[in-house]
Amino acid sequence: MFTRLKQKWKVTNLQLVLVLCTFAIGGSLCGFLGRKVMGLANLEVNGWGILVYLVVVTLLWPLCVLAVSLLLGQFSFFRGYLLRVWQRMRGQKTGGPGPTAHNLAIFASGSGSNAEKIMAHFANHPHIRVGIVVSNNGAAGVLLHAQRYGIPTLIIDKNRFLTGDAYVPHLQEAGITAVVLAGFLLKVPLTLIDVFGGKVVNIHPALLPKHGGKGMYGKHVHEAVLAQGDASSGITIHLVDGQYDHGPQLFSATCAVLPTDDAGTLAQRVLELEHRHYAPTIERWLTTP
Ligand code: GAR
Repeated sequence: MFTRLKQKWKVTNLQLVLVLCTFAIGGSLCGFLGRKVMGLANLEVNGWGILVYLVVVTLLWPLCVLAVSLLLGQFSFFRGYLLRVWQRMRGQKTGGPGPTAHNLAIFASGSGSNAEKIMAHFANHPHIRVGIVVSNNGAAGVLLHAQRYGIPTLIIDKNRFLTGDAYVPHLQEAGITAVVLAGFLLKVPLTLIDVFGGKVVNIHPALLPKHGGKGMYGKHVHEAVLAQGDASSGITIHLVDGQYDHGPQLFSATCAVLPTDDAGTLAQRVLELEHRHYAPTIERWLTTP
């Protein structure tokens, strides 16, 4: 039963536990508050009072689970869950990607901590899903994250990607509508950008245009920031135009560079910004008309 729930809700073991706890605590809170409301209205929970109680708890329940989900870090799951329940009640179809849905391919070469945040954020989203995870590195940690979320993966060959068909037929067959780069170290060919109508987004761990370009990834970026004596660093999320770390910017956020920083401590501060902002920025980008 738990395995089926995990697959249905596209959650990890830990998330499944937190989601079930949210249902349990939210339900108890709802019952408790429902009785309080009945008490305040001087109504007994019997006879006609049962009907009133049912209306009260029906209205309170979504608020209670959302409040608990915030505390347990499951807000995006329950937001999607309640939206689907609402759509079902109104007789709208839910489930796989509908005509207005966005189906993302995440491209990543490394551990994929950003990719994992994106998978979690969209796991139960009503209009956006992650359809495939692509990597040029068969040992990349991101592939394990994809496996845990039940997302198909594709290992690509560098030459075919850069000078061949860029795996466009494969991505089209998977119904991909936009590409998200999350620590992907190869330059994205123009063919791919054109096929997706420019819907290719990248994140960079510095304030572009400074400290970007070929070879600027991981600790090299933070070492460059420290070597220049910059007072601040940050993240840049931008559309991809065929050059490394280049294209119209969608979002940026800054953080301080401390006198005591080394590349490791600065990287950690910047990565926290990335984890906080990448998925919400992608959501805004795709859903803002
Ligand atoms: C991230 O910091 C991302 O900004 C960077 O690779 C890291 C991947 O980390 N991308 C670039 O440097 C692009 N030039 P992750 O695998 O833990 O998500």
